[in-house]
Amino acid sequence: MDASNAPTPAGLAELAGTWAVPVGGDALFTWDYDQRSDRLINLYAKGKQRQWDADTRLDWSREVDPGDPLGMPDELIWIADSELWDRLPETERQVVRRHTAGWMYSQFLHGEQGALVCAAQVVRMVPGIDAKFYASTQVMDEARHVEAYDRYLREKIGVRYPITSSLQGLLDTIVRDPRWDFTYLGMQVLLEGLALASFSIQRDLMTDPLAKAFNAYVLEDEARHVAFGQIALREHYRDLTEAERREREEFALEACYVLNERYVGNELWHSLDYGAQECIEITKRSAALRVFRYRLFSRVVPALRSIHLFGPRMQEGLGSLGLLRFAREDQNTMIEADERIAREIELLELARRRAEIDGAVALGEEAR
Ligand SMILES: [Fe+2]
Ligand SMILES: [Fe+2]
Repeated sequence: MDASNAPTPAGLAELAGTWAVPVGGDALFTWDYDQRSDRLINLYAKGKQRQWDADTRLDWSREVDPGDPLGMPDELIWIADSELWDRLPETERQVVRRHTAGWMYSQFLHGEQGALVCAAQVVRMVPGIDAKFYASTQVMDEARHVEAYDRYLREKIGVRYPITSSLQGLLDTIVRDPRWDFTYLGMQVLLEGLALASFSIQRDLMTDPLAKAFNAYVLEDEARHVAFGQIALREHYRDLTEAERREREEFALEACYVLNERYVGNELWHSLDYGAQECIEITKRSAALRVFRYRLFSRVVPALRSIHLFGPRMQEGLGSLGLLRFAREDQNTMIEADERIAREIELLELARRRAEIDGAVALGEEAR
């Protein structure tokens, strides 16, 4: 198919509109302003201090390759390891690269909006003032992420897709449930895990410098979000009854199943013209998807373990999905690495810009 036939931002009318999900649960006020956990207040302080502005932090003047806007190595293209890919001429491969980038970044965009809505819901439902403080910084973080992924799609990729049904289904369940801990579990553990996996692949494996830097900065924020979910849920889940634990384990397992089996780019392959079913089958056995699943579950499974959702039902369910081996991964080391890498990239970027400015000043002086 020709790239010009593909959905483009100019043809986004069908993506416009709203999606209404009824929400339950109480809006909780507290009159106790004194009870504060040091860990939450520290996280809140970090959240305030580490806000960044994509308009100024990123160098949007960098040109990207329109046929490969992320600098995506072939190994990460879902259909690259196939005869179908071998037969495609380079012009068609460029269409696949651009549309894969468009599909992925569209899911990041919609997922970030889901996080924005859920974080606002957490502010409303969470009992403690310290957690309300912290969650309000996350609302701002997620708004900045929505803004930046939207800009990236518009200016650098130029192709946009609607939300994929697996992600929409998860968001629907998370937002609709009246129990605050389901919102936390769904958002702060499962969808944040999806975010960590996706953005770390962008940061570590894409070759475009803008994509790498952007995702590194987003990841630094996401590390705080995951930490919040852990602090809040670890305590709450320690004292659950067996029936309550089982209900939460079933919910988390269903989400793991959906992310393991159904996050395969359905809309992407249906919009391109290479035989959707064949592309989906190739995607399911691709090395690229194995990389994604490895990154996803090496974040999510240890998180489930650390919040005490690791009873016999969970272990059996994870075992049947082949995911139990991730239980021993050390998530704190990963979170620390996310923060360190973001700071390193920021310093490199500052040095690069300073050198550019010095170079321009020197040229100006020479010309005098
Ligand atoms: Fe986010
Ligand atoms: Fe987040």
